[in-house]
Amino acid sequence: MSVTSIVGTRRSVKADAVVVFVAQGEKHFKTSEKSLTSEIPHLTPVFESKDFTGKALQTALAYGGSATSASRIILVGLGDFASVTPERFRRAAAMGAKRAASIGCSHVAFEISTINELDAASIAQAVVEGSILSQYRFDKYKTIKVDGTGSGVKKVTLFADKAHQKAVASGASIGECIVDGVVLARDLANAPNNEIYPETLAKRAAEAGRKAGFKTTVFNKKKIEELKMGGLLGVNAGSVRPPVFIVMEYLKGPKNEKPLVLVGKGITFDTGGISIKPAGGMSDMKSDMHGAASVIGTMYTIAKLGLKRNVIALVPSTENMPSGTAYVPGDILTFMNGKTAEIDNTDAEGRLVLADALCYADRYKPSAVIDLATLTGACVVALGTVTTGMMGTDEKTKNRLRLAADKTNEYVCELPLYEEYEEQISSDYADIKNSGGRNAGAITAALFLKHFVSYPWVHLDIAGTGIQPKSSHYTTKGASGVGVRLLTEMLRHW
Ligand code: BES
Ligand code: MN
Ligand code: ZN
Repeated sequence: MSVTSIVGTRRSVKADAVVVFVAQGEKHFKTSEKSLTSEIPHLTPVFESKDFTGKALQTALAYGGSATSASRIILVGLGDFASVTPERFRRAAAMGAKRAASIGCSHVAFEISTINELDAASIAQAVVEGSILSQYRFDKYKTIKVDGTGSGVKKVTLFADKAHQKAVASGASIGECIVDGVVLARDLANAPNNEIYPETLAKRAAEAGRKAGFKTTVFNKKKIEELKMGGLLGVNAGSVRPPVFIVMEYLKGPKNEKPLVLVGKGITFDTGGISIKPAGGMSDMKSDMHGAASVIGTMYTIAKLGLKRNVIALVPSTENMPSGTAYVPGDILTFMNGKTAEIDNTDAEGRLVLADALCYADRYKPSAVIDLATLTGACVVALGTVTTGMMGTDEKTKNRLRLAADKTNEYVCELPLYEEYEEQISSDYADIKNSGGRNAGAITAALFLKHFVSYPWVHLDIAGTGIQPKSSHYTTKGASGVGVRLLTEMLRHW
């Protein structure tokens, strides 16, 4: 995918199609109509028909004839002028790209002009995000290509007037870095278990680090044993493939600035182990390393952006397999910090590998730690696939995430960690047990993690938001890449 930004006009820009955004609002719509029909006469019947009103996501296709270099003009509605947001641009750009792709266009130009309070850079960023992410497919294993309408949009050009070109170029390049991180996260999380298992996940993280500019260190099983990561080793016990613990370091901030530490659950496949999952839908569990994918994608993006921050990312990674050597209910595991947990259910494995990673994070004396994990089905029951569950001890970081969520539309909603829930994970034989039963499952999982935390901390349960049941706007069915845009936005404005 390539993105260029240039000075240009609707009439002069060269592409297979030109997308022009039009908002609703009496005066605003009239002005758009006037300039469009006077510059491109073929648009007159479109407006005369009154079919196109600028309503959000509405489209109209016309052919410019001799008036335009690009033969096709696609109008896309933005909805009400007064309340337009970056998200409306993301969705409108996605709609424009999809409409163009549906008629075989591979090069699409988008007109960027400021509207209301929104600046050109934010609009350009949103248009890059929406258009490119809408074209994402995980189709590398398809050897028989579906025929019909070409292979999607491959080239995006943003054009603006001279006064806005610089802002557009800068917003577009930010958008490109973000999109690359989201696509990386989606590719990793969509990949099946016979492609992405702990060792290959580590290889891909290291490759991302080489490309973008962060350091990757991979601990093997021996090192993990030396560190006494009993949670990670316990979950790995049933697996033929060894575990890894991936450490990524990006230290471009001031020397005395404490780092932010990201932790991503890296279960490359979750069968449930001895407490095995039902067969239906189990293949979704190839994405049980979405938290890991999100933090790797975020590291990629922030390094590409060259942010002046200190950020560390940690990924404890293993499969969760049943076998003669697997851990079983009743086992007691001892974590890196010496605490113990009784295994009630081997399918509550995410919290066990995260516990060791949260202990390890303490070595960095972090300003805060944010973990991302496809942790509980209970979170999906509570918030669906729209909103990420947020829990934790640090109000400041929670507020930063809320602000970033507003900007990116990667919604977060807080669930409480009242101590009354603690009794659900109390154990007769160990410090705690790994399952708190059906009630408040997202909360008891987070409370389990809290036992391993000694710094400001926020947990994001992305079980619902990470794995999408269907395509929508600029996300496609399967891994969403959630977290990359959210964390990048937060880090850019820390
Ligand atoms: N990876 C699953 C959670 C999950 C479920 C993610 C659906 C994405 C979609 C996790 O390891 C798990 O199995 N959790 C159990 C915990 C229970 C045994 C306490 C769950 O949610 O059922
Ligand atoms: Mn599980
Ligand atoms: Zn899991």
